[in-house]
Amino acid sequence: MKIVLKIGGNEIDDPSFLQELADLVAQARAAGHVMVLVHGGGKEITGLLEKLGLDIKFVSGMRYTDSPTLDAVEMVLSGLINKRLVKALLRKGIDCIGLSGVDGRILIAERILRDGNDIGLVGKVVDVNLSVLTAMVEKFAVVLSPLAVDAASTTSLNVNADYAAAAVSSALRSDLIIFLSNVPGVLKNGTVIHRIDELEFIDLRKTGVVSGGMVPKIEAALAALKGGTTRAIVTDNKGAINVISGLPGGTQIVA
Ligand SMILES: Nc1ncnc2c1ncn2[C@@H]1O[C@H](COP(=O)(O)OP(=O)(O)OP(=O)(O)O)[C@@H](O)[C@H]1O
Ligand SMILES: [Mg+2]
Repeated sequence: MKIVLKIGGNEIDDPSFLQELADLVAQARAAGHVMVLVHGGGKEITGLLEKLGLDIKFVSGMRYTDSPTLDAVEMVLSGLINKRLVKALLRKGIDCIGLSGVDGRILIAERILRDGNDIGLVGKVVDVNLSVLTAMVEKFAVVLSPLAVDAASTTSLNVNADYAAAAVSSALRSDLIIFLSNVPGVLKNGTVIHRIDELEFIDLRKTGVVSGGMVPKIEAALAALKGGTTRAIVTDNKGAINVISGLPGGTQIVA
């Protein structure tokens, strides 16, 4: 199978999480699966911005990214976190390479507005360089940071990691995209909902059951399915191990 894993930023600084993740990827690679890991890292970006004394501003849940902020985003995501994940996989003996969407123009993006507002150097992926990505996944588990390049290759753009993972999954026509987060699935009254379709999502959002970071995640899952991905799941490490082994786990999103 071709599998895209979106790694949430909440636990990416936790050594035991990294170890479990590496076990999961090792198991999947041993079973012959193609693996692309797209990661976030919002918590650590905020940490660096605070250390640098830069303003932190969000517009409708998306980070306002001026030029100094973009530099910090790129340092943290394409440097620190990308290489931390790569090392965790290498320690397990996984053939693995870390790239950003800028490298080889893997992710090409254009600037977007958020609810009609300027949010700076933030983009949405408009094209994926499949030839580079395909060449890489043949040999390696690929760890990809969600920085993209603009069409003219003049600037990097900050892309929401859930959406970047969906774009990669669509381009690869992947069999499975898993949004790995710090929750076992989409929860209602503390219980995992096993399956959510688009209409149910609208309802869950209206009633406030689904909020915050879960909203872009389910939107991205729906986008991945519409883009040609076969299956989309929201879960944690444990759920992902089950799903990759063919067992039920987490919340399946259906278009
Ligand atoms: N119904 C719900 N079920 C589960 N989690 C929910 C729900 N509604 C809102 N959430 C929130 O969504 C969060 C997951 O999204 P979040 O954006 O924080 O994580 P992530 O995308 O994995 O990490 P990052 O954004 O740093 O990459 C959960 O921790 C929880 O607080
Ligand atoms: Mg998130």
